[in-house]
Amino acid sequence: MDKSRREFLKGTAWMGVAAMAAGHLAAQAAENRPGCAAGAPMHGFRVAPMKRVRVGFIGVGARGTPAVKRIAQIPGCEVTAISDINPVRLDAVQKWMKENGYPAPKEWSRNGDQDAWKGLCDSDVCDVVYSATPRPLHCPINVYAMAHGKHVLQEVPGAFNLEECWATVEAAEKFRRHCMMLENCTYGEEEMLVFNLIKKGKLGEIVQAEVGYQHDQRSLQYNPRDGVFWRIDRHMKHHGNYYPTHGLVPAGRCLDINRGDRFEYLVSMETKSASFEAFGQANFPADDRVVGVDGKPFNRHTQRMVKGDINTCLMHTAQGKTLSLIHNVCTPRPYDRGNLFMGTKGIYRSYPSLLMAWEEKIGDGGAHKYFDEAKAQKIKEEYRHPFWKVAGEIAKKVGGHGGMDFVMDLRWAYCLQNGLPLDTDVYDLATYSSIVELSERSVNARSSAIDFPDYTRGGWKTAQPFTVDEIDMGKFDFSSKPVKGGNA
Ligand SMILES: NC(=O)c1ccc[n+]([C@@H]2O[C@H](COP(=O)([O-])OP(=O)(O)OC[C@H]3O[C@@H](n4cnc5c(N)ncnc54)[C@H](O)[C@@H]3O)[C@@H](O)[C@H]2O)c1
Repeated sequence: MDKSRREFLKGTAWMGVAAMAAGHLAAQAAENRPGCAAGAPMHGFRVAPMKRVRVGFIGVGARGTPAVKRIAQIPGCEVTAISDINPVRLDAVQKWMKENGYPAPKEWSRNGDQDAWKGLCDSDVCDVVYSATPRPLHCPINVYAMAHGKHVLQEVPGAFNLEECWATVEAAEKFRRHCMMLENCTYGEEEMLVFNLIKKGKLGEIVQAEVGYQHDQRSLQYNPRDGVFWRIDRHMKHHGNYYPTHGLVPAGRCLDINRGDRFEYLVSMETKSASFEAFGQANFPADDRVVGVDGKPFNRHTQRMVKGDINTCLMHTAQGKTLSLIHNVCTPRPYDRGNLFMGTKGIYRSYPSLLMAWEEKIGDGGAHKYFDEAKAQKIKEEYRHPFWKVAGEIAKKVGGHGGMDFVMDLRWAYCLQNGLPLDTDVYDLATYSSIVELSERSVNARSSAIDFPDYTRGGWKTAQPFTVDEIDMGKFDFSSKPVKGGNA
């Protein structure tokens, strides 16, 4: 292990003691890292066009099974392998594949062996591993799959602490494989609309974004479908934002994070914990007893959480922008990702409503003057992102969060089939996933500022900003493989 890495790890072990020093250590280690572990930087990384993309799935639960159905329908993609420790899930996928006329994928893990997914990675039946497993498996799968020659598409967050982020970056650099985080909201119709508006200059220079993930999951987390409590486990044991990416990654793309700008530091603050406790007392008997993922029993009636109800992070970028990020999965409220962007010429907000105003409406003193609904809809049509123009109809037919999941899948498939770089790379996966640990460190240190590691090692300064690209849908021969629809 090189010296800078040892220093860095010392920094993470020191979590929560003195934030000023910890933040300084993280920055120092990032600056000192001597370059890639064993390969070239991954910005703009591409591989030869893959006319046939063979995909192996690890984890075919709530996320993985609909993904199998979507990817099986993409021309040029084949689902050739599946791994899940739950045979019921394997059976359901095999049944769907058979009923819809697709060849049976090869299976791993039917016997419940927790490590059998490695056999899928060792095999030569797939080129790409699509991982939709519980979060503790994400980094082990990233590293092992890339070491065995597979490109990785990883669910969110792509890693769970700084050590896992570095391990994933180093594996991608060493083994020269793609490792993309499957941040589906980046491909949402409204997220792509605001991206297009920003790239066309309608909002001027963006100075602040306010995003997040607010989704009442009290029932989901306390009543998991398989009886496995991996979601609530983090809540019970750690502070910080452990699920940061849904609002964040689309906003990071608008802010050119890792491509001309970078997150420098964050501060994070948390409320007390109250809502899970109230829910537990109201919904479970006093003698409730379930077993957590660590094998220890707990009682949902009396269980206390470490994480507070609402975590808020504020991030500062090298180019002087700020981004606020909220995480709240336990107060009773409608779903919300925020999606608020403010620039030198205007404002955009969506979720729940579509609100826009820029200079033609507000002039220089325009309180309460958003465009009316009809005008907002007109702008939405005019500036619909090219991805959605060409793929929107088919994506809505196939489905997955209103079609955005299918737009995302079409996009990475298109990039792989045509030898293009993927939209987000391993540095993005690491940067955004870092917030899990950085936010916890900040909360533990009375909201002191904590530096982000620079996984690009300065490469962000020269990396090309995102552009508004087009999928040439003509390259997908849907006539040879008409979509069936219904991924859920
Ligand atoms: N992008 C999104 O919108 C979104 C939404 C929900 C969840 N997620 C992410 O997707 C991932 C999966 O979430 P989910 O809701 O599908 O969970 P889930 O519990 O429904 O599915 C996980 C599956 O992994 C299987 N599994 C567990 N250990 C395994 C092992 N050792 N080998 C093989 N299979 C194993 C389980 O049997 C299960 O079928 C999580 O990382 C979560 O953060 C993303």
